Amino acid sequence: MTAPLSGRTIVLGVSGSIAAYKSVEVTSRLVQAGAEVEVVMTEAATKFIGPLTFRGITGHEPFVDLWATAGPHAEPHVALGRSADLYLIAPASASTIARIAHGIADDFVSLTALAMRAPVLIAPAMDAQMWANPATQDNVALLRARGVEFLGPVEGRLASGEVGAGRLMEPAAMVDHARARIGREYGDLAGTRIAVTAGGTREPADPVRFIGNRSTGKMGHALAEAACDRGAEVVLITSAELAAPAAAEVVHVETAEQMLGALQQHVPGCEALIMAAAVADYRPAESLPHKQKRGGLEHWSLDLERNPDLIASIQREGLIKVAFAAETDDVLRNAAHKLVAKDAHLMIANDVSAKDAGFAVDTNRVVILDRDGGCDELPLLSKYDCSHRILDRLAPLLAHSADA
Ligand code: CTP
Repeated sequence: MTAPLSGRTIVLGVSGSIAAYKSVEVTSRLVQAGAEVEVVMTEAATKFIGPLTFRGITGHEPFVDLWATAGPHAEPHVALGRSADLYLIAPASASTIARIAHGIADDFVSLTALAMRAPVLIAPAMDAQMWANPATQDNVALLRARGVEFLGPVEGRLASGEVGAGRLMEPAAMVDHARARIGREYGDLAGTRIAVTAGGTREPADPVRFIGNRSTGKMGHALAEAACDRGAEVVLITSAELAAPAAAEVVHVETAEQMLGALQQHVPGCEALIMAAAVADYRPAESLPHKQKRGGLEHWSLDLERNPDLIASIQREGLIKVAFAAETDDVLRNAAHKLVAKDAHLMIANDVSAKDAGFAVDTNRVVILDRDGGCDELPLLSKYDCSHRILDRLAPLLAHSADA
């Protein structure tokens, strides 16, 4: 699978907080996502976590001592400020935020902030009272006004045992936001808003039973992830219980009717719609208000009625539509027919009877059909890589519709 941060340099600033141990996981996740990570630390951070740990993960010596003379650069903070694609400060203590807001550069984290040319993300971690203090809030407002983005803090249990706003955002979510921020800065979908649907809809027969299908939502969630990584604002309308990219706006739905309602609400603000959801074609005409007891009926016949065709019913001037064709036979002919019937710009055809492609697996093998009769047969790919190939085709259509 292509690493989403490959070729990117991220400077990670660690300041003094009990949550500093979590920055080790952040570092590891960034490295696993392909980034080159350089760590800068305050002296206070070294009381909580050793530089050696970061060195082991990144392969680079962290910068701590302002007066150190070793290393290739006479002014490492300036070199880091030039080479970074992103500066993530996690955890950021109240005093680190204050120093950065006021341009005081007396430790490596605040010094690097002053020399930074790349976007800055700050993930605070502190006691709730310290976060709520007007001094901190004023500093945060000052930095926000200068374009600094804050990740959290989130509500939860704090080191003091109290519950409140002050917890460091979870490392996985933080890395998702870092990826999306890089996407918005350098990605080809920056400035676009895309709705993605995912998962199989569940059509209730009674409060405990539903008619569903084998879709797990993996393809739709991978598309949302890839689109966030390329800088799009994503609204993910999903029936799946899978992790969603933290940077996406997530709307949970169950039924086709709810999915339609969400589409009607969100698509008007979007330039593109990617319908990866496996929408149930039929739903029980009636959903019983109480559980159907086993002893109650010898036979239970469900009367099914047809759901609306969601993608065909969503019409908006300039909207680019990408549909999927889940087929078990005559894949290309059926997909070409659906491209027209659904008024789609691209149709992603996949043979859902194949073992390594389609439902519930991490790979897919698709053919992309377009309105000009083009037919692009892709090899077996991870769903994330497959998503990028689909977005490679969507990006020029979006650029073209923006020009029109
Ligand atoms: N779709 C939709 N609304 C439906 C059914 C499907 O919007 N009620 C969308 C799917 O999300 C997909 C595309 O239409 O992007 C094709 O879905 P598919 O299940 O392959 O086709 P169907 O329209 O259900 O046709 P058929 O049952 O004949 O294969």
